[in-house]
Amino acid sequence: MDASPFHDDPPVGIPRTSTTPHAPDGQTARAGVPRREALAALAQRHSVGPRWLTDPAPDDADLRRAIACALRAPDHGLLRPWRAVLVGREQRRLLGDLFASIARDQGGDEAAIAREIERAERGPALVAWIARIQPGIDDVPAHEQWMTTGGALTLFLSALHLMGYGAKTLSGRKCSHPRLQAAFCTPGETLVAFITVGTPSRAAAARGCDDLDFHWQPWQPQNLGGAGPSAPH
Ligand SMILES: Cc1cc2nc3c(=O)[nH]c(=O)nc-3n(C[C@H](O)[C@H](O)[C@H](O)COP(=O)(O)O)c2cc1C
Repeated sequence: MDASPFHDDPPVGIPRTSTTPHAPDGQTARAGVPRREALAALAQRHSVGPRWLTDPAPDDADLRRAIACALRAPDHGLLRPWRAVLVGREQRRLLGDLFASIARDQGGDEAAIAREIERAERGPALVAWIARIQPGIDDVPAHEQWMTTGGALTLFLSALHLMGYGAKTLSGRKCSHPRLQAAFCTPGETLVAFITVGTPSRAAAARGCDDLDFHWQPWQPQNLGGAGPSAPH
């Protein structure tokens, strides 16, 4: 059996040429409507808060598709420094009790505790994102593993978005609480955040303007020390 969550899906994207089976034909790629449409949709991904997320939730097959996309994140050394777990609907109450106990620890009043219980119930699907950063790996420092973890999360969110779902990633102060960490992680792992996923009941909105010219610039060489431009010959 094909273990890929995409095995039943119709072919998408750009047909490959027969001579370059692993490289899209440049002409086709430029003219490729499906990819251009996907690209435009991707550029419009914005988070959708839990209160705007309704049923249907993504089913197991769609969640597996999104995870399969997350696994395409660039991953130096193929360390796979993350995993995600689904908090089932029937487990929300248990999670709410945990949230409530943490709110109590943090000095929350009854209203804050009730809010935490309600938070655990919010949203059609709830996923916990867990990092597994390994210290002391030759050539793959922790920051590169965090990059992979973030890249994977982004691909997960992007895949959900392209399938028509909305999602929001939230950590909050409680995520770093040792009891919540212990409930989700094995030693060496870090619970990063929870992702609520569902069907948006309203269009997602951008939070601010993008400054492309800051984020994409030609290199302005600096601090070159002895490696500055050599004198003309
Ligand atoms: C790991 C992680 C944790 C986050 N935790 C919170 C949070 O606790 N509260 C919050 O308001 N936003 C949090 N965010 C940011 C939102 O998920 C979201 O990205 C932000 O509101 C920007 O919206 P956008 O995704 O539409 O650009 C977190 C993002 C990440 C990646």
